[in-house]
Amino acid sequence: MTKIWSATFQEIPFEVYQYKTSKGGLGYLISASGQAVAIDIIDGPLLVEELEKNHLILSALLLTGYDEDHIEGATYLKEKTECLVIGPPHKEYAFLDQDVADGEENSIGPFSFIVYTMPGCEQDHACYFFSECLALFCGDSMNHSSCKKSLDLPDQLYFEAVQRIKKLPPKTLLFWGHDPQWGEDHSILRSLGEEVLLNPFLRAQTPGEFITLCENSD
Ligand SMILES: [Fe+2]
Repeated sequence: MTKIWSATFQEIPFEVYQYKTSKGGLGYLISASGQAVAIDIIDGPLLVEELEKNHLILSALLLTGYDEDHIEGATYLKEKTECLVIGPPHKEYAFLDQDVADGEENSIGPFSFIVYTMPGCEQDHACYFFSECLALFCGDSMNHSSCKKSLDLPDQLYFEAVQRIKKLPPKTLLFWGHDPQWGEDHSILRSLGEEVLLNPFLRAQTPGEFITLCENSD
């Protein structure tokens, strides 16, 4: 687990740690004032070890979606830390304590976040915007210079979801669910403002422009 970002907002120091999984996914831990929230989890034992090493109490696990590469360690983590497990509604998983709904504002310890439901690899997917420290954990819904929309999801739906994300402050940092820079020390961090300039899928101004891009990409 690597510390990839830290900043102080209203005298509270926030830190973000990233863990890479053997399956190519990225999970995160955001910490402030000795408390932490994890976003997606594969390796439960590793995360528990890191929490102990860094003297952090885990309050919650936020799930962006239910692909195996994001949830595998959820049951272990919940058993060991008794954290609250929060994610988009899902009937199948007993570890889920609380469903999220689009636009919902939630606070846990020193953290406040807003939920944006956004289709990615799957229909039921959520992004979490931590409003005090301007951090967006976007899971599988977006990626560096590309999008992660599944072919069977309507382009229009994704386009509309992206337009809402684009209204967040341009300084918002994006923490992706997968890393195209795999093998480097850590992901290259990009702000939403930079991504809108560099990512043709985010730059598209109309649904038509967006759909043409989707049709011409894999
Ligand atoms: Fe994924």
